[in-house]
Amino acid sequence: MNKHVDGMASRPLRTERAGVVVTRTGVNLGAEITGIDLRKPLSDEQFEAIDAALVEHALIVFRDQDISSANLMDFGRRFGELTVHPFAPNEGKNAPELIKFRNDENTPPFGTDVWHSDETFRAEPPMATILCAKEVPAVGGDTMFVSMAAAYDGLSEKMQQYISGLEGIHDMKPFRPLFGKSQEERKNLQHFELQYPPQLHPVVRIHPVSRRKVLFVNPQFTVGIDGMDERESRQLLDTLFHQALVPEYQHRHHWQPHTIAMWDNRSTQHYAVHDYYPQRRYMERVTIKGGPVTGLPKANPASVRKAKFAAPAHVDTHGGHKPHR
Ligand code: SIN
Repeated sequence: MNKHVDGMASRPLRTERAGVVVTRTGVNLGAEITGIDLRKPLSDEQFEAIDAALVEHALIVFRDQDISSANLMDFGRRFGELTVHPFAPNEGKNAPELIKFRNDENTPPFGTDVWHSDETFRAEPPMATILCAKEVPAVGGDTMFVSMAAAYDGLSEKMQQYISGLEGIHDMKPFRPLFGKSQEERKNLQHFELQYPPQLHPVVRIHPVSRRKVLFVNPQFTVGIDGMDERESRQLLDTLFHQALVPEYQHRHHWQPHTIAMWDNRSTQHYAVHDYYPQRRYMERVTIKGGPVTGLPKANPASVRKAKFAAPAHVDTHGGHKPHR
């Protein structure tokens, strides 16, 4: 059974700093921000208030912001360098940092309907992502978010101790099917595999600003636990992935045109609900560069084996005994 942690329930519902009004919309994550116009440059005080709200609430939402793509990129750049997604189609030379998701029945989004933190296959995954709604379905097309700090707090103390110091293996596996089977495409895939080898990240990361402990494994990119065999890994990961499914740790975000959501990628996961076809949904996205992922000291560095996981397309979680490798 999960502990449902509502330690945040006693915080104030509404705060104001430099004219930036932050209203909580969820117990474990989520707040709406009013009092600013993102078409205009932010003052340092406004920026600091928003930056603090991002860390505190993990998901911040701005309504009625009819901004241009350039405004969106400028806003993102206040938080740091924008990154270019290696696999998502982007706006080319003029704005490689900008992703336009134009989706309908014939062009469904790729791989967003699985719980994930963005790009954890990178050595330094993004610190935050900003998504701006241009055209939204009349019904459906929500995005689900989950606080992975609450998910960590909700584990039993025994499990928290057990996973402290472990490292997850994060891999670009979901993108492999994007490459075809021709010789040239396979060569291209090899090039990306060399550029993005599997990464080890702590299973429990320490948020660099809040210092909260965060459960940092996700079913999209985490393919194993370093030093464990496949079956052990899979069973532990299933247990940990389950934490994202606990409603108490989640927030369901409903989009309207000109809504902007920004999430702290260090402490959340998200899932785009693919229920809106044949309606259209058009969103613009930028992502902000993150730093190294730091965690608790390793449990037993001597026992760490290098990753032998070949990013299995499917692992049988209930099959027969799999011998140690
Ligand atoms: C994403 O996974 O970055 C996209 C989320 C969404 O489309 O709601």
